[in-house]
Formats: sequence, C-alpha cells, structure tokens
Amino acid sequence: MEYMGNREYWDNKFANRSDSPLNPEKSVTENITYFKKGSVLDIACGDGRNALFLLENGFQVTGIDFSSKALDRLKTFAKRNNYLVNTKQVDLSISNSLKDIGIFDNILINHYRLSKEQLGDLENHITDNGILFVCGFGHKHKVDSKIRKEDLIQPTDFENLKRSFELIENIENDDDRGFFVTYIFRKRSA
Ligand SMILES: C[S@@+](CC[C@H](N)C(=O)[O-])C[C@H]1O[C@@H](n2cnc3c(N)ncnc32)[C@H](O)[C@@H]1O
Repeated sequence: MEYMGNREYWDNKFANRSDSPLNPEKSVTENITYFKKGSVLDIACGDGRNALFLLENGFQVTGIDFSSKALDRLKTFAKRNNYLVNTKQVDLSISNSLKDIGIFDNILINHYRLSKEQLGDLENHITDNGILFVCGFGHKHKVDSKIRKEDLIQPTDFENLKRSFELIENIENDDDRGFFVTYIFRKRSA
C-alpha cells in the first residue's frame, strides 16, 4: 500500500470514495476506554472514520494528513453531524513537521508508520498520563505488491519511547485481513 509519500495516490483514492465515511477501526472502538478524556491528535487521519468516532464520544479532535481531499471530506462529515473538528495539512515525510502541532491528551496513529525518531518526539506533544495509540499492519503481516516491508509496524519502532511511556496494552490479531497490532502507551507523569 502506498502508505507514505504519494499524495496524488491518496487524493485520488479519497476523491473516488463514496459520500460517507468508513466504519471506525475495530481496535479503536474496542479500546476507547483507555483514552484520556480531552483532546486527540489523529495522525494521518485520512477522511476521518476514527476522528468522527472520537468526536461522537466527546473528544476534541485535530486531524492531520497530507491529503487535502481527505481533510475536506472529514470537514464535510463533521459538519453534517454538527461536530467541530480541527484539521491541518501536514506532510509527515518532513522530519520536523510536527514541531508546532501542540500538546494533546491522546495521539492516535492508525495505519500509518511514523519513523522511530518521530515516535520518540511525541513525548513533547502528549500531556502527563496521556495515551499514544498505534494500530496497523504488524511485523508478521504478509508482504505483497501493495503492502511493503517498510510499511509494517515493528516492535523496535518504539525503542525511543521507553523513558517516557509505559506500554499498557499490546494486542495482536491474525485474521483474514492480515496481522494487525495495537500498541497502547501511557505517558509517565513528570
Ligand atoms: C491507510 S490510510 C489511514 C487513514 C486513517 N488513519 C484511517 O485509519 O482510516 C493512510 C493515510 O496516510 C496519509 N499519508 C500518507 N503519507 C503521508 C504523509 N507523508 N504525510 C501525511 N499523511 C500521509 C494518507 O493520505 C492516508 O490518509
């Protein structure tokens, strides 16, 4: 899957989707009780299936993505439900693109692989006891022409988080869709 770097691919994909959002990620709906009440930064939010679910559940949501088509769709869906959502167009392939993004009670990354350095830097963007929720294709997922090895979340991705975060859940699911992992970290209080 062209997870990273190809904006045209994603703009086309979102432009050709139907006029309603997809269902939220199962792991997000099943584990919402781990989220800290307050704000969520949804990184690589796409057209917002998870952002909309979080808005519906009372969170303040900021969605970032490099696809303007995706963000336009998220804004349209949110407006339809009278939800207020913040969006920002951000290209995550630029190493310091999250520098000025702010501080949130939770960060969600669903089906996007941030670099180890970017993950390590997230400690500067989460409040004490805040949650970092990462979900996507994991290290045992079968690689094919669509999903490349470099798209798969590896346990070693999180090495730079150890000093500031505690791993509170690590869920692995192997089914017809593939090998999915969920990592839920809580930021230690200072
Ligand atoms: C598989 S989709 C996941 C979307 C959403 N998180 C979800 O679960 O439905 C991957 C997303 O990453 C975004 N993306 C890919 N490369 C990016 C980049 N370099 N910067 C920002 N967003 C990017 C795409 O536009 C797309 O919305």
